[in-house]
Amino acid sequence: MKTILITGGSRGIGKATCLKFLENNWRVLTTSTSGKLDYKNQNLQNYQLDLSNSESIKAFVSQVHSMPLDVLVNNAGISGGFSEKLLDPKILRKVLEVNLIGLADLTNRLIGNIKPEGRIINISSGMGAFSEDIMDGWMPSYRISKAALNMYSRTLAANLKSKDIEVCSYEPGWVKTDMGGKSAPREPSHPAEEIWNLVAHGFENGVFYGPTGKREW
Ligand SMILES: NC(=O)c1ccc[n+]([C@@H]2O[C@H](COP(=O)([O-])OP(=O)(O)OC[C@H]3O[C@@H](n4cnc5c(N)ncnc54)[C@H](OP(=O)(O)O)[C@@H]3O)[C@@H](O)[C@H]2O)c1
Repeated sequence: MKTILITGGSRGIGKATCLKFLENNWRVLTTSTSGKLDYKNQNLQNYQLDLSNSESIKAFVSQVHSMPLDVLVNNAGISGGFSEKLLDPKILRKVLEVNLIGLADLTNRLIGNIKPEGRIINISSGMGAFSEDIMDGWMPSYRISKAALNMYSRTLAANLKSKDIEVCSYEPGWVKTDMGGKSAPREPSHPAEEIWNLVAHGFENGVFYGPTGKREW
């Protein structure tokens, strides 16, 4: 049985992705900030993890250190709120802690668990793409965190090539979740299916994917 770790499986895209892999008979490890989940499965294990807290990251890694992983999906993330226009350093610090620094700290600590031919998928956003029109200037902290995450994906892809581990960024489009809100056109099951396809069919190392496949950074 293959094993995947998906951070932030309590809600939204993370939860839908956990359910997709469980349906396909994978062992799924996931996390929530409370340590609780509102669903169960015999092949599902949940852990407490707060990516803004390095002690929480260390405690989580110590619980999973003996488990080999086929895939790591760095899904957990925060928006920093929707009212920011001019960059607010407090919001930037908070968002970078979760979406970039905690994510990278966790990933570095888990590299030894990832099997050769393993894969890492970092859940990014079109809002972090330099190729998109960002002239509204909205949510700068979130955009910066996802743009930085994209560069992390590229450097990690280069650094892990010798270990035969492949890395990509993937952006799910605008999705109906607590973060995306009720007006979003996509359901969480859509990105779950696309993440499944990236794992099942493979992807190019160090590339940015979206709902329709490979895309511009
Ligand atoms: N929804 C969209 O339209 C959209 C678009 C582009 C990209 N994305 C990206 O997709 C990913 C999932 O988004 P979503 O819409 O599914 O969000 P969501 O519904 O708000 O769920 C966020 C998940 O992240 C976890 N989380 C939040 N803060 C955390 C922390 N400090 N440490 C560890 N885990 C934490 C949450 O756990 P708790 O339940 O315990 O709080 C939850 O499981 C994010 O990286 C987001 O940036 C979403």
